Amino acid sequence: MKFFVDTADVDAIAELNDLGMVDGVTTNPSLILKSGRDILEVTKEICDLLQGPVSAEVVATDADEMISEGRKLAEIAPNIAVKVPLTWAGLKTCKTLTDAGTMVNVTLCFSANQALIAAKAGATFISPFIGRLDDINLDGMELIADIRAIYDNYDFNTQILAASIRSANHMKDAALIGADVATAPPAVIKAMANHVLTDKGLAQFLSDWEKTGQKIL
Ligand code: E4P
Repeated sequence: MKFFVDTADVDAIAELNDLGMVDGVTTNPSLILKSGRDILEVTKEICDLLQGPVSAEVVATDADEMISEGRKLAEIAPNIAVKVPLTWAGLKTCKTLTDAGTMVNVTLCFSANQALIAAKAGATFISPFIGRLDDINLDGMELIADIRAIYDNYDFNTQILAASIRSANHMKDAALIGADVATAPPAVIKAMANHVLTDKGLAQFLSDWEKTGQKIL
């Protein structure tokens, strides 16, 4: 499973990228707001850091304007994936940009039918939002499993990009189901390394080592 980082925080991306943890990046208007940065500038900086896909989201709601925004975003770098919402205008934009050779990430997907129609429109990535479904007492992971089954039934090339990931368990479950990619905030990716028994075991080893009076260096 590829790891994308869901942030526009350049330092956080760079830190994880140095460890080989970053196969791509996803941003959205809320994350751009949080960064306090200009979308074109920060997206360019992120694209220069890595070779993998960097999702940058359009904000227009009609297809013509969305296509123009998408073209402008795609000019930032060759590794841009234009992010479009799963609306009819978004699907039109997806088809136009995909036909022109631009990667497209269709976002705000909450149903298997939406994922199916995005694949028909040629989406490079489909982004089902796990956490936001869980928030309203639906099962986000069940949606990932449904999409996996449908895409496998018909050999669609669209990659399942599990999004709105809120916990390390979400990462494990997405990997078990076979999501192609999971995008998560830096803190969630780091949390994957944590285990209470690792901390306990290390504390014991260090305490015993202290008692030996030895040094390695
Ligand atoms: C995905 O591309 C989105 O940017 C993101 O995963 C949304 O996550 P949230 O529901 O935690 O805001």
